[in-house]
Amino acid sequence: MSDTGKKQKAGKNKTIDFSLEEGQEYIDRAFDFDKESPSSEKKSIKEIELSRLIDKTILGDTFRVLRSIPKESVDLLIVDPPYNLDKDFNGKKFRKTGDNEYAEYTEQWILAVKPLLKKNASVYVCCDWLSSMVIGPLMNKHFQVRNRITWQREKGRGALTNWKNGMEDIWYATVSGDYQFHVEDVKVRRKVIAPYRQNGQPKDWEETGEGNFRNTYPSNFWDDISIPYWSMPENTAHPTQKPEKLLAKLILASSSEGDLVLDPFAGSGSTGVTAKKLGRHFIDIEQNPLYCAWAEKRLEMAEADNSIQGYTDGVFWERNTAQLQKVKRRAGKTE
Ligand SMILES: C[S@@+](CC[C@H](N)C(=O)[O-])C[C@H]1O[C@@H](n2cnc3c(N)ncnc32)[C@H](O)[C@@H]1O
Repeated sequence: MSDTGKKQKAGKNKTIDFSLEEGQEYIDRAFDFDKESPSSEKKSIKEIELSRLIDKTILGDTFRVLRSIPKESVDLLIVDPPYNLDKDFNGKKFRKTGDNEYAEYTEQWILAVKPLLKKNASVYVCCDWLSSMVIGPLMNKHFQVRNRITWQREKGRGALTNWKNGMEDIWYATVSGDYQFHVEDVKVRRKVIAPYRQNGQPKDWEETGEGNFRNTYPSNFWDDISIPYWSMPENTAHPTQKPEKLLAKLILASSSEGDLVLDPFAGSGSTGVTAKKLGRHFIDIEQNPLYCAWAEKRLEMAEADNSIQGYTDGVFWERNTAQLQKVKRRAGKTE
């Protein structure tokens, strides 16, 4: 502990964890929705010009803010809603409810975002296995479901009376049959286990100083992404932060440069930061001022460094393999 009573961070700990007082300059950069559209004028929320809402964090209640976004303006929707669990988001508590209540809540935000989507828009919704049972059927009701991605992730303690939860679902859907999917932009670079040669030459793989690699088309099982942790510059103290590498896959596959990405439950701003790094516009909505400040800090950092850990040279590297690349670059060697 320091003499100010604050916990000291270990030297290499990069976690963004400042207080609201310390981060005043960042919260000032966010768009304060209640100031712009006071709740006394609740019934008369009007559309706000898109140029005022994009590329910054919007502080406000998503159910109010969404009503002000122009219709059919969004190319890609990424939703990481509160899962149906007891969770404290910096003082604002989400309480676990029954399936029916959670379904009502889910349908409420789906109905709020649906009119904002372009006809060729894509939608991704994150959930754990339990929320997934409620969210999946509602996705099917409102959109054309195309897949369910399983993200294998390491987090949390083991459960003594159940299997430890080691995965999350990401539902993938589109508004219509007209949609973008850029598979070449989301290839995964994997180590070749049994390198096959034809006429002495590698068949569909590459020989490098670090081993043999092949760029493969991605499947709906993702085991190459870790959750953000203390030594990663993207890490914040948000309790349920998503990795930029995961968002980069969604954004690259389902949008183009200059498109608009919407995240109605933005947390620490991972969607907006990744969208910015990849040349997309974004609307990030978050109710908590402290999380908005952290998001704005990350947006500032993205101006100086637009790298995404685990995504280099236009491919997604298997866990830890990109580290080898980094070491090699530092040593001044290139492939
Ligand atoms: C699961 S977290 C999202 C985390 C985010 N993907 C990230 O990478 O940091 C859900 C977020 O939604 C916010 N939230 C919940 N209800 C909200 C509402 N009605 N309006 C705006 N934000 C809300 C919570 O404060 C929380 O930060």
